[in-house]
Amino acid sequence: MPERNLTDYVRAANSPLIDPERNRQVGSGSARFELYHFALSICSHKVRACLFEKGAAFMSHDIGILPPVLENCHPDYVRLRMQGGKGREMVDGYTGRSSMNAEGFDPAAVPTLVDHEEGQVHVDSVAICQHVDRAWQGGTELMPASLRREIEREIEVVDGTPHVAILYGAHPDGDFRPEALRTSMTGAHDYKIMKLMEGRSLSVGHPRLTGAYDAKIRKEAAARRFVASPDMMRTATNEVLKAVAELDGRLADGREWACGDAFTMADIMWTASLWRMKWLGMGFAWEGGHALNDTVHDRVGAYAARLFERPSFQEAVIGWPGSLPSEHVMEHYPDAASRESESAARSETIGGHGRDIREESLTGAVLATMKGTSNPRARQVLSALTRHLHAFLEEVQPTEAEWEHGIEFLTRTGHLSTGGRQEFVLLSDVTGATARVDLINNRFPSGATENSVLGPFFVADRPAFENGEDISGGIKGKPMFFNARVIDTDGQPVAGARVDIWHSDDDGHYDIMLPEQKDPAMRGLFRSDAHGRIWFTSILPKSYPIPDDGTVGDLLRVSNRSIMRPAHVHVRVEAPGYRRLTTMLFLDGDRHLDSDPVFGVKQSLIMPFVERTDQRAPDGKKVPSPAYCVEYDFVLARAT
Ligand code: BEZ
Ligand code: FE
Repeated sequence: MPERNLTDYVRAANSPLIDPERNRQVGSGSARFELYHFALSICSHKVRACLFEKGAAFMSHDIGILPPVLENCHPDYVRLRMQGGKGREMVDGYTGRSSMNAEGFDPAAVPTLVDHEEGQVHVDSVAICQHVDRAWQGGTELMPASLRREIEREIEVVDGTPHVAILYGAHPDGDFRPEALRTSMTGAHDYKIMKLMEGRSLSVGHPRLTGAYDAKIRKEAAARRFVASPDMMRTATNEVLKAVAELDGRLADGREWACGDAFTMADIMWTASLWRMKWLGMGFAWEGGHALNDTVHDRVGAYAARLFERPSFQEAVIGWPGSLPSEHVMEHYPDAASRESESAARSETIGGHGRDIREESLTGAVLATMKGTSNPRARQVLSALTRHLHAFLEEVQPTEAEWEHGIEFLTRTGHLSTGGRQEFVLLSDVTGATARVDLINNRFPSGATENSVLGPFFVADRPAFENGEDISGGIKGKPMFFNARVIDTDGQPVAGARVDIWHSDDDGHYDIMLPEQKDPAMRGLFRSDAHGRIWFTSILPKSYPIPDDGTVGDLLRVSNRSIMRPAHVHVRVEAPGYRRLTTMLFLDGDRHLDSDPVFGVKQSLIMPFVERTDQRAPDGKKVPSPAYCVEYDFVLARAT
């Protein structure tokens, strides 16, 4: 294959970028610079402000870098960006900062600048700004030689501030970030990783590219850990506060700008930094009056006011389409009040999400409709559902016919769900959702018996039995003798526990499935004795198919999956002071143990049911001989 040149990389990266509002020429004249950036990104603020300060025209590609759009994860963009990352250390780990010096080269970040005149790609906001300042004749001189060292020192301070961490993560002692941001940042790292994996899979066969994706995936996984750590987030916030307090000290000599009387590159960087703090709700870093900072830093306040009035900032941020205000910066948006009242008026009639529905704004618009959900849990659930559904659609890119097929599948599932046959529950079972909910809600300490799914055959109306009785209800089969104890995690017996048992017959049918069977059979309620023991006789259960004549059957067949549940005895144990245990014992040797369609099998629940002739009940009474005997200790976790 012939070597690609820069024009090929640019052409490939640009081919999906067709929205004329986000892909347009800014300013007139030279088409020297082509910039890939994002309306809301702090590094993009720096570069745009720099370009406006210099008066440089540029071709702007305002790409979506938030879930679910993530245009920055596309291999064609990554390939182009990597032309500017040659010879740089690939990103390694996560520090909560975004500069290349702190983190290494991030192959899927913004901004990226192509300089067509010199045929180079530049990455990293500081490097781009310095390049533009050098290469573009005109506008403000941003790096005067006499101030170079001071400017570089200020740039280093801003670069060392963990802005990315405070954007993606909540402060553990109270999240001050804008409402809309909080919602869209929940789960953002998972989305990113998913989209990066997709990009990686499209890049197989290109080791440099897959290597870059691997590094970026590791970074996002580390970022996810970082923002979930209260200690890291506290430290990050303190570093931001410290940077502001120290800046206030440097401004004490009355200088107008960060390095003296001239506006320089240092001020571009501080504008982005202070604006990001303000936008995030962290203006208290200099305004005080907050539990995290009570000190007022007046000099930073006055400096920030000057910075925010600068025309280059006004053009690059306030006036930039899609550079949304947050509730913390409304006063900086001249038309914010009219915008708000206009949108409030609209929301009364159509639900409040506005009318600017585009690919990258749709998910946000739907999330905005949840703002009025007064129950916080309902709001969390609805928002997460929206985000994941939209990400799913973005990943799958369904055709209209496929989407209709999906709707029709769910409609049929609903029609099949009645009191007796619950196809939706079965769908939850075979998709692992039931098992996931079970795992989430029953995280018992080690040593306790593992929980498993309840299944549809438990009935509350079951007969009570004394220990030693036969619960088979006269159904024929191979005799089974079940001998168990209920104990706690210290090995002490739990007396008086209620132990529910239910299982299938020799053909895999439960009593409620047998048309001739009027009375309960193969199910019953026991109480553990003073030693924690319960025991009974019944018949040996058999593996059985889950219902496969509905939509769930169709689904399993598409993936060539088994419909057979391995043979098992269901057990539910309840005792005051302990967590309820719902579980089942599986018959060792069953050939369906590794392909349970409902994901109920756990190794610790598989037991030999051994054919014996010498078995005695705990009270010394004889049991049927031979019988398939099982012994098990059900270990209960203490209620907390
Ligand atoms: C059961 O073991 O009874 C069962 C569990 C989930 C789906 C179908 C059956
Ligand atoms: Fe079952």
